[in-house]
Amino acid sequence: MATVKENLQRATELQHSDSPRLDLEVLLCHLLGKSRAWLYTWPEHQLDAGLQAQFEQLLERRIAGEPVAHLTGSREFWSLPLKVNRSTLIPRPDTEVLVEVVLALCPQEKLALLDLGTGTGAIALALASEKPGWSITAVDKMPAAVALAQENRDRLGFDHVSVLQSDWFSALDTQRFDVIVSNPPYIDTQDPHLREGDVRFEPRSALVAEEQGLADIRRIAADARTFLAANGLLLVEHGWEQGKAVRGIFTEAGYDEVETRLDYAGRERVTLGRYRRP
Ligand SMILES: C[S@@+](CC[C@H](N)C(=O)[O-])C[C@H]1O[C@@H](n2cnc3c(N)ncnc32)[C@H](O)[C@@H]1O
Repeated sequence: MATVKENLQRATELQHSDSPRLDLEVLLCHLLGKSRAWLYTWPEHQLDAGLQAQFEQLLERRIAGEPVAHLTGSREFWSLPLKVNRSTLIPRPDTEVLVEVVLALCPQEKLALLDLGTGTGAIALALASEKPGWSITAVDKMPAAVALAQENRDRLGFDHVSVLQSDWFSALDTQRFDVIVSNPPYIDTQDPHLREGDVRFEPRSALVAEEQGLADIRRIAADARTFLAANGLLLVEHGWEQGKAVRGIFTEAGYDEVETRLDYAGRERVTLGRYRRP
């Protein structure tokens, strides 16, 4: 058995992690059901034998590289606690840029929005939390991700979000949306980063796309034209080196006002365009 403080000192065992101390704090908070402030207030609190054994197991799995979010089963996005699992991507802070841009460009209280490849539901639910009057549709191809997004939606009580299984637009028929957003798979199949860090534990269905990672973005930009209302907006997240290529895809597909917004590290991350129906 050990105290909170002694357990936190074991951060040195997490050599591969970028944030070893934080990882241990999050694991201890999860096990104890307490906040990080509590850990600092009660450093001498002793874990009982059962909790200490659970901590040892989680530490071992973290040392083996498993993402902290998979160990705790949750991740916060836009201050919403979301359940996560191996069916889809763990929501990333950079994706909050997409949410911010949508909110800045769309002040209206009524609007129809589609989130393609919703995963945990992160983008759709973040927008739903800010805009109770919006009608939000969220789709994912993977049934387990659809179930996960539905569970997150139900737990948060956002009745104005419908979650459907759909291969991009396949389950939608004649609806038109004022805004379509997506954080689609955009990593090149040969990218060596796929063998490092958290992504090793996330499904390829959430990560990789053909054509240097651009195939899904190309398909979405083309097909969204049928589902956008007049002057509708399309916004996609992409890799920080893909801005130029994505602007080219949007422009070729006939979108106007094409531009790219930066993430918190100042890298090109979200491209948007407006579709003026011919
Ligand atoms: C990069 S993850 C994004 C998840 C979530 N939107 C987020 O930002 O955290 C991409 C998501 O797209 C889904 N996806 C991949 N191909 C798809 C397709 N053809 N149709 C619908 N969803 C798809 C994956 O299952 C995955 O959940």
